[in-house]
Amino acid sequence: MPHPFSGTIPAAIAAAGLLGLLGPPAAAAADPARGRALYEARCGGCHNQSVHNDSSRKARSLDEVRARVANFSAQLKTGWTPEEVDHVAVYLNERFYRHPCDPPLCPGASTGGLFR
Ligand code: HEC
Repeated sequence: MPHPFSGTIPAAIAAAGLLGLLGPPAAAAADPARGRALYEARCGGCHNQSVHNDSSRKARSLDEVRARVANFSAQLKTGWTPEEVDHVAVYLNERFYRHPCDPPLCPGASTGGLFR
């Protein structure tokens, strides 16, 4: 007599694998529109955009932009989650920096000028 669960477990694993492929990725894409709202609510009053796009800017990669966003967020005690920091970093990147941004943070070609 076959074990009552034979066949069930492999099927469950296959189904889970399929769900993993079709479901949302574990690290969600950042949302620049949310980032813009967060930034304008908490950061826009202090520096205008010249901080981000003059030639002396220092953030030379998306990681550096994100590090600075995380830094300001901590100093200002925004309470932003890491996901919200990502939203803001990708918003600033889309708008000003145009550094390469790979999936999963930026699905598809990202620095194409959402805000142009
Ligand atoms: C107290 C005023 C002030 C506030 C509030 C402020 N910033 Fe800034 N920010 C500055 C100044 C001044 C600079 C330029 C000097 C520097 O890089 O520290 C700067 C620079 C930056 C840079 C780096 C620019 C570059 O490429 O070098 C980022 C990114 C940034 N701010 C993000 C934020 C975010 C996100 C917030 C909101 C959580 C915020 N800032 C709030 C004053 C402020």
